[in-house]
Amino acid sequence: MRFTRIAGTGHHVPPRVVTNHDLEQLMDTSDEWIRERTGIRERRFVEPGTGSSVLGAEAARAALKDAGWKPTDVQFIVFATVSPDLYFPGCGVLLQAALGIPEIGALDVRNQCTGFVYGLAVVDAFIRMGMYDRVLLVGSEVHSAGLQMNTAGRDTAVLFGDGAGAVCLEVTTGEDGSRLLWHHLHADGRFARELSILSPGSANSPWITKEMVDDGSAFPHMNGREVFKHAVTRFPEVIESVLASQKLSRDDLDLVIPHQANERITEAVRKRLGVDESKVYSNIAKYGNTTAASIPIALSEAVSDGKVKRGNLVCLAAFGSGFTWGASLLRY
Ligand code: COA
Repeated sequence: MRFTRIAGTGHHVPPRVVTNHDLEQLMDTSDEWIRERTGIRERRFVEPGTGSSVLGAEAARAALKDAGWKPTDVQFIVFATVSPDLYFPGCGVLLQAALGIPEIGALDVRNQCTGFVYGLAVVDAFIRMGMYDRVLLVGSEVHSAGLQMNTAGRDTAVLFGDGAGAVCLEVTTGEDGSRLLWHHLHADGRFARELSILSPGSANSPWITKEMVDDGSAFPHMNGREVFKHAVTRFPEVIESVLASQKLSRDDLDLVIPHQANERITEAVRKRLGVDESKVYSNIAKYGNTTAASIPIALSEAVSDGKVKRGNLVCLAAFGSGFTWGASLLRY
């Protein structure tokens, strides 16, 4: 039998810490409003001009080291981001060049906050079917370059941060129990515009104008209440369904690593699931929402802090723009 296991994890966040008080200098907001509504105290921002592929390469190097792989051991790259360095080509090829692994395939995943979970399911399918034995999966975001850093953009500007996480995934027989178990992926495109950036885009003609920048459509737009309402339902639903697919229950879980969207969402999900606080990972206070990077950063931290050990049952779950949502269940 062919299964997939995590051989190594790594993450990288830029050193520049931006506190809620720093944002108070740029827009009409307050540390208290941000902390109470989201749980965020600070986030990391890159120095201007640093793209997502650069953070992704740092995280990838850390994951390769953890796995004991050379870059040339990687047979395929999957890169999840909503903040690519360039409109095209995607970050996968930029990462490939940065790591010096010419010619292997590189796939970009555009599933926003659910990008890492979608990426993991794709990699698992490739490995199980025998196409590759060793794949590098990266989630990386540089949001700071694309936020509207004034009062008009405050409803989203205070939420997001920069960072990257990576995992090395390899084939296993699964005999020692360490393997990815299953994934459930969902989307509902009727809500596509509820959390979106509307331009640049081919639905516009021309696809970008100065007016689009001036009227804010080149920056994130979010219907926060709609996102909240769906997230608190979809997270527990998909966690329960992926557990049921393996005839497991919430009591079997050692750790849930939810996409770090918002502490209030995480807390509502935890209560609906009825699991102890110690079983739900949270680091949003220090990084904010890092979209496709949030789960691999949290996983990498949890592994290095000893909160995830070999054999533990871990559920990775995400909800975000699209709307998209999904969960991956694994024995670490
Ligand atoms: N600082 C201060 N005030 C702010 C603000 C900020 N950064 N952003 C918005 N406000 C104001 C609003 O303008 C509004 O003012 P008004 O009452 O005078 O109109 C007030 O705060 C309340 O806004 P509202 O949008 O109703 O707040 P809320 O209680 O719904 O909380 C969110 C807003 C965004 C925190 C909340 O909707 C949420 O958590 N949504 C999910 C967001 C999320 O997780 N997105 C990522 C998903 S991947």
